[in-house]
Amino acid sequence: MSHNLSGFVESNWKTTLPLLAIILFSVCIALWRTLYNLLLHPLTKFPGPIAASLSEWWEIYHTIKCDRFNVIQELHEKHGRVVRIGPNQVSISSPEAFHYVFVTKCSSFIKSNFYATIQPGIGPKYAGLFNYTDHKRAVAERRDLQPMFSPASLKQYEARYAGQLEQLVTAMKSAEQVDMFKLFKYLLLDAVGDLSFDRSFDQLKSGEDHQYVIDFNNAFMLIGLQNTFAWLLPFIPYLPFKSLKDAYFGLQRVFAYSQAQVKQYLDQDTSKKRGTLMSGFLDPETGNPKDGYSPWSIALSGHGFIIAGSEASSITLTYMLWLLIKNPEMEKRLRHELATLPQGYSSFNLAKLPYLDAIVRETLRIYPPAPSPMPRVVPQHGFTLEGFEYPPGPYTIHRCSEVFENPEVFNPDRWLGVSPETKERMNKAFIPFSAGQRGCLGRGLAWMHMQMGLVKCLEEFDRFELANGMTDEDMVLIERGALAKPKSTKLWVTCHAKEKPGFHQ
Ligand code: HEM
Repeated sequence: MSHNLSGFVESNWKTTLPLLAIILFSVCIALWRTLYNLLLHPLTKFPGPIAASLSEWWEIYHTIKCDRFNVIQELHEKHGRVVRIGPNQVSISSPEAFHYVFVTKCSSFIKSNFYATIQPGIGPKYAGLFNYTDHKRAVAERRDLQPMFSPASLKQYEARYAGQLEQLVTAMKSAEQVDMFKLFKYLLLDAVGDLSFDRSFDQLKSGEDHQYVIDFNNAFMLIGLQNTFAWLLPFIPYLPFKSLKDAYFGLQRVFAYSQAQVKQYLDQDTSKKRGTLMSGFLDPETGNPKDGYSPWSIALSGHGFIIAGSEASSITLTYMLWLLIKNPEMEKRLRHELATLPQGYSSFNLAKLPYLDAIVRETLRIYPPAPSPMPRVVPQHGFTLEGFEYPPGPYTIHRCSEVFENPEVFNPDRWLGVSPETKERMNKAFIPFSAGQRGCLGRGLAWMHMQMGLVKCLEEFDRFELANGMTDEDMVLIERGALAKPKSTKLWVTCHAKEKPGFHQ
């Protein structure tokens, strides 16, 4: 009996000892890493939450809680310019440092690996311009895409947008109260979808979400999964989880739709392949994709444009309308300025209106739709914090009180009548589109969409009234995914139509 017992203990020791050794080893590593991050890491000299210095989970936690940029801003208010927000990350609230990193030294401070984790699939096949960490490759592609965003191209897009703006007005008149956030989303998705794939989603007409839009919204779940549980993806069709399956098959439908649209566009006569974002990828002589591009890459870029170029503009339009409703004297002043427009005005005329410009700027300053850090890797040479990630975000920079007095106050006048030096300083710290060689490619297009959209509303409607029950709390900017939007994701409004559209009543 005692022999059996000792044999049992001995054989169990043989199996448990290696296991215990592994556990002990892992505990030691974790302990060492904790001590290193807390006490010995070169970033320990910077203040910040202890949890942030220990692991990336601090940032993930606040991303899930949708308050990341607010918490980072609070840390700056408490601790000053530089705060540690991850074991390997600092945020620096300084427009000068931002300019240095994103503009002056853009080619050295490359996008971090974070960008590869947010593409719609694993591997280089799924990487679009937004995800490239290779600076040279990004700059070369941007050079090819530049003509698609030139003033001449924008003029053609404006003509296509005019029809969509008419549909917006019809939708606004269709009910006593309308959710303007939803209508602006439809407007911009229809418009950018039309430019990307030569076909509007027609959501303003149908009043319903297009299947492509439902699918790509569902598919965002896969992006989260692919980073942590990539091995799980091929098994999703066999798992009993409906939302996972919706995401999986939805993403396949997204690719199928975009490829079918590109194919249809390419199959046309060359003379018809103009006036869209796709035409920039084509050789003007042959109408075929230029060297380095394929129907797949054009479809992927189109999808990227829709994600990058629709919701941010609709969020800004929503805030602009809300801010005008909350500030009737500003609305009056803007209407007064619009009365100087000629009949049949264009975006060219709008670009010359200083108060309209100030309203757009100030809205984007206070409510930047892409407010969060845009992580860049600090190069080995040339900065005092080599090797770490440096991610300041527009929300933080836009609240630098050295540049913007009373930064929390919505004050379009801060952009008007200031000295050229002050204006330059403000412009440097105004970064809703980021800046430099990897700044937003669609800035001009977004500006045209937003200005034309707001002005059309003011041309057709006398007055806007917030619906009962809409509160300021509903419009608090909170982070959702890569963007930030009104907390309630609604703006219910009663729109009072003019008897005769125009600005001269
Ligand atoms: C109000 C509207 C918009 C805002 C606030 C905005 C903001 C931004 C920001 C902050 C970035 C840099 C992101 C980073 O470095 O992590 C960016 C990049 C980009 N945006 Fe926009 N964007 C807007 C509209 C558009 C539109 C209309 C398009 C095109 C249809 C567009 C296309 C792009 C592309 C292609 C990039 C990637 C550029 C690169 O990585 O080189 N955006 N945008």
